[in-house]
Amino acid sequence: MKLFETPAKVIDESRQGEAYYAADNQHNNINHFKKFYIESYGCQMNFSDSEIVASILSENRYGPTRDIEEAHLVLLNTCSIREKAEETIRKRLRTISGLKQGKPDMMIGILGCMAERLKKTLLEEEKLVDLVVGPDAYRDLPRLIAQGEDGEKGLNVLLSREETYADISPVRLESNGVTAFISIMRGCDNMCSFCVVPFTRGRERSRDPFTIVAEAEQLFSKGYREVTLLGQNVDSYFWQNEDQQIRYTFANLLEAVARIHPDLRIRFSTSHPKDMTDEVLETMARYENICNYIHLPVQSGSSRILSLMNRTYDRPWYMDRVEAIRRIVPDCAISSDIIAGFCTETDEDHADTLSMIRWADYSMSYMFMYSERPGTLAARKYADDIPEEVKKNRLNEIIALQNEISRKHNQRDIGKTFKVLIEGDSRKSDNEFKGRNTQNKMVVFPKANGYKPGDYVHVRVESTTSATLIGSIVH
Ligand code: 5AD
Ligand code: SF4
Repeated sequence: MKLFETPAKVIDESRQGEAYYAADNQHNNINHFKKFYIESYGCQMNFSDSEIVASILSENRYGPTRDIEEAHLVLLNTCSIREKAEETIRKRLRTISGLKQGKPDMMIGILGCMAERLKKTLLEEEKLVDLVVGPDAYRDLPRLIAQGEDGEKGLNVLLSREETYADISPVRLESNGVTAFISIMRGCDNMCSFCVVPFTRGRERSRDPFTIVAEAEQLFSKGYREVTLLGQNVDSYFWQNEDQQIRYTFANLLEAVARIHPDLRIRFSTSHPKDMTDEVLETMARYENICNYIHLPVQSGSSRILSLMNRTYDRPWYMDRVEAIRRIVPDCAISSDIIAGFCTETDEDHADTLSMIRWADYSMSYMFMYSERPGTLAARKYADDIPEEVKKNRLNEIIALQNEISRKHNQRDIGKTFKVLIEGDSRKSDNEFKGRNTQNKMVVFPKANGYKPGDYVHVRVESTTSATLIGSIVH
């Protein structure tokens, strides 16, 4: 596991390639004749999908292991979002293939977006891969594994319009027992011109809200105190029953989950500026347990570039949405995704991005250089014409500015007291707890008698490091 921490994250590297293991003993022993090992890359949705895969495998006599050497089945749940992500995974695959040479029984499977993007060419290019399974085909894993055991390669990359894995109760992997992800929808219909996701994850579909609420209730009864509702574009969540009498928008869903218990915190990601309604913001304002934090990717501050990106909003529209957040949920933190060096981007467009970062006052951003992805609208229509050096320089300017703003945010927090949900021991010391405040900032503080993970405490901030607030519990 790589650790990569700057005040403003370039990419959330801390979980890339994380090897997963079931959090409860129940899933680590019963009736499991064989072992699987899974590593996850990319977005939170992939990490959440790995928990669905673990559940399907656990029902089929495969138990999880953290030790790749003892695994019969090694799975990589992959990401295609940028070229670099795919390169990292290919490199990892080569190491794993080396392991397989002395172990004829070991099977290697590629899941997720790379499986979907490259389909059977992946079997041809990476000869030691046995299974290639796309994001909508995980129910077919037991059959494909059986096929693999018979020496045949297994491939299923069919995308679905309906699959939401609604009935599958995910096996919580590497969980702290306090926070969990819940997928509320799959796929994406937006067709941002730079993005491969609509091609790898298919059409957007929303999961039955009753199964979402039931999953959150079950987590709460097991001691979990925070759920993050996941979708590529949560604001376009929409579900109706067959006779269309029962309808749920995202605001309705948020409210239903918030009403489970005041001690269950709710977060969500990702919001799309074109769809984020005042109704969602008003629901956030009404419930203390819906966290005051919105990840609202701007991508670029230039209306011209936003139009080429097919984001379907312009700079004034985005600013109006930020103003709505400030008005309706006053102490809400906002974070962003930003792409440097998209096709035709001029110095002026770049300056618009910098001024947007300053104006929106993001607490944090994920920042990337544009990476052309084969098959996307941008790859087909526009030349990737910004030289690497220029992209790099612009990205560095963006990072420097975001770091400065994040530092100011942290400094403003000194002296304030926050309600913090304890998630576990801090990374550096087992004499300290870590947890997050409603604005999603990590807070570290000395342990005090009687408190344990899952408890809420009030912490007064005394100092900050680049990315963390440091304080102590106030009674
Ligand atoms: N190049 C660079 N960044 C990208 N993203 C998506 N596609 C690309 C690409 N081709 C970024 C966007 C998105 C985040 C998940 O990844 O900022 O919001
Ligand atoms: Fe990609 Fe745009 Fe969909 Fe996000 S909203 S997954 S950036 S197409």
